[in-house]
Amino acid sequence: MGILSRKVTCNSHGQDSSYFLGWQEYEKNPYDEVKNPKGIIQMGLAENQLSFDLLESWLAKNPDAAGFKKDGQSIFRELALFQDYHGLPSFKKALVEFMSEIRGNKVTFDTNKIVLTAGATSANETLMFCLAEPGDAFLLPTPYYPGFDRDLKWRTGVEIVPIRCTSTNGFQITETALEDAYQQTQKRNLKVKGVLVTNPSNPLGTTMSRDELNLLIDFISEKNIHLISDEIYSGTVFSSPGFISIMEILKDRNCENTEVWDRVHIVYSLSKDLGLPGFRVGAIYSNDDMVVAAATKMSSFGLVSSQTQYLLSALLSDKKFTKNYISENQKRLKRRHKKLVSGLEKAGISCLKSNAGLFCWVDMRHLLSSNTFEAEMGLWKKIVYDVKLNISPGSSCHCTEPGWFRVCFANMSEDTLKLSMQRLKAFVDSTTSARNQSNHQSVKSSRRRSLNKWVFRLSFDDREPGGER
Ligand SMILES: Cc1ncc(COP(=O)(O)O)c(C=O)c1O
Repeated sequence: MGILSRKVTCNSHGQDSSYFLGWQEYEKNPYDEVKNPKGIIQMGLAENQLSFDLLESWLAKNPDAAGFKKDGQSIFRELALFQDYHGLPSFKKALVEFMSEIRGNKVTFDTNKIVLTAGATSANETLMFCLAEPGDAFLLPTPYYPGFDRDLKWRTGVEIVPIRCTSTNGFQITETALEDAYQQTQKRNLKVKGVLVTNPSNPLGTTMSRDELNLLIDFISEKNIHLISDEIYSGTVFSSPGFISIMEILKDRNCENTEVWDRVHIVYSLSKDLGLPGFRVGAIYSNDDMVVAAATKMSSFGLVSSQTQYLLSALLSDKKFTKNYISENQKRLKRRHKKLVSGLEKAGISCLKSNAGLFCWVDMRHLLSSNTFEAEMGLWKKIVYDVKLNISPGSSCHCTEPGWFRVCFANMSEDTLKLSMQRLKAFVDSTTSARNQSNHQSVKSSRRRSLNKWVFRLSFDDREPGGER
């Protein structure tokens, strides 16, 4: 141990969070319709498997893209040797155009301001290295994506300070919550370097309102700090209100030549919108040339492979394909979301009204034995081990109220989702009837107690004066 670095032995990675523990339990006993029908169903993984057929049919029609060929000629050697950390220009062009398309072409992006990274994980960490020193702090609204403890803190030494959002206003960011987090950080003698939000939110599945986004711009302007907007779920918005990118707000406020323009950075990735987390394609978009230059140099530690860039530049340049993909994928997500919400309703469970993402933020407060995080853990263990559903407890997302859970709906078949809801309903029904029975029994025994008292008092009071006790 003594000859290893502190990084190896510190536990700020967050590996022992229930978010990752649930995955481990799932791995030990994964559900399979045929081979393991009693296994654990994975509902703790924000994967989008709903539109693979669209990607596969494009691949079948465009064999050159995945076959290292251009106009029928092999480009294997060219791709094998390409390692320029600026990325393939054709891919960067296709990617920024795709990002604009997702935002309804209300904003455009410049290929000179984008840095390719191995997923949003790498993009977020790289931004920490560019914007903060070890010991500096970033403010994050709660609940937040559990992976941020690893991505933002672990290797960089940056601290996360929560902006405490609550169910009273649907977990929206308020001026008071922002100011409280800022004051808290100062009390701890940490320097606040910025705010990081995910829009649409993981785990809430909601988009940020124009008012919230304006509030954030006002806040970072006043405090002279950065804003990172992780927009990894921007293409998953399936219902109104639509998605508003932070870039659109900057444009509407004519911020182009102001200081704040350089302090807003976007993170993006193809892991969710295209369902390709295994391809490791992410990006940083920044208006600050220094950040772009430094992040580009840092991207050497996590480049996107040249064959992936080549394949995806062909796919994303096919505008007919992207247009159809974006709308079809959203329709499928909407349908799936509806199935989850109605399945939960049948089990007497409600969730936060949402319009985006690959999950719902589910309210199980009524199933807790007490209003505590211990009770939340107890319920979570029952759901994982007895009901055999891996969902993520709110505490793993740093939620400040016990009883909320993130439940994913796009990484399984419709039949599996149906089964998961049947299991959950059976569990809720049995819990409720057990509770009713014990309530009934306690009412009965308290009645019996008062009856006994009454009988006792009667017999006691009926005693002859001076009689024996
Ligand atoms: C908000 C958020 N940011 C970043 C990531 C990491 O994504 P990637 O697979 O592109 O590294 C995730 C993955 O779940 C996420 O939800």
